[in-house]
Amino acid sequence: MAVHEIRHPLVRHKIGLLREAGISTAKFRQLTAELGRLLAYEACQDLPLENVTIDCWSGPVEIQQIKGKKISIVPILRAGLGMMDGVLDLIPSARISVVGLSRNEETLQPEPYFEKFVGQLDERQALIVDPMLATGGSMIATVDMLKRAGCRSIKALTLVCAPEGIAALQAVHPEVDIYTAAIDSHLNEHGYIIPGLGDAGDKLFGTK
Ligand code: URA
Repeated sequence: MAVHEIRHPLVRHKIGLLREAGISTAKFRQLTAELGRLLAYEACQDLPLENVTIDCWSGPVEIQQIKGKKISIVPILRAGLGMMDGVLDLIPSARISVVGLSRNEETLQPEPYFEKFVGQLDERQALIVDPMLATGGSMIATVDMLKRAGCRSIKALTLVCAPEGIAALQAVHPEVDIYTAAIDSHLNEHGYIIPGLGDAGDKLFGTK
């Protein structure tokens, strides 16, 4: 598995702004979508192309088109929705498959409460979007679900990763590449990424 921590100046700048304690809901949403777009741009670098001939105003011309696999965006509810529109800006024809997970308070494991997969996932490149890769539990569960549905080509897009989450995902799904704006220091005793962003879902939805 490759972990791509994106070094582009726009990404470095925007992830820094996102960490400000007093950030408004509007600004947090805007930056999350913008980072989603930039991470998707990076994650699509290796899409295969094919040459096709089209009718141009001046006559036939050979152009390049993306070949083969179509894209599925897979937001993990609810914070993943914050990145989805940014990815859709770049790939407006993508299908969207949605996953909802809640934590079983006895086993502490994520359990699916919602799964709506669209299209032939075995023919699609899935881009899972979730701002925070903390313990990795939700990401691992989502990859499990996608694989059960036949999906073979999966990438994870996150704003911030904890090393613990990367190691956990790597141990179970080593072929899933991660595209992230930041690899932070560690998880605290409450499972928050340090320095992190705080609760990304709350900040995106204005919960508090
Ligand atoms: N989920 C969040 O929203 N923030 C964290 O730091 C960890 C998990």
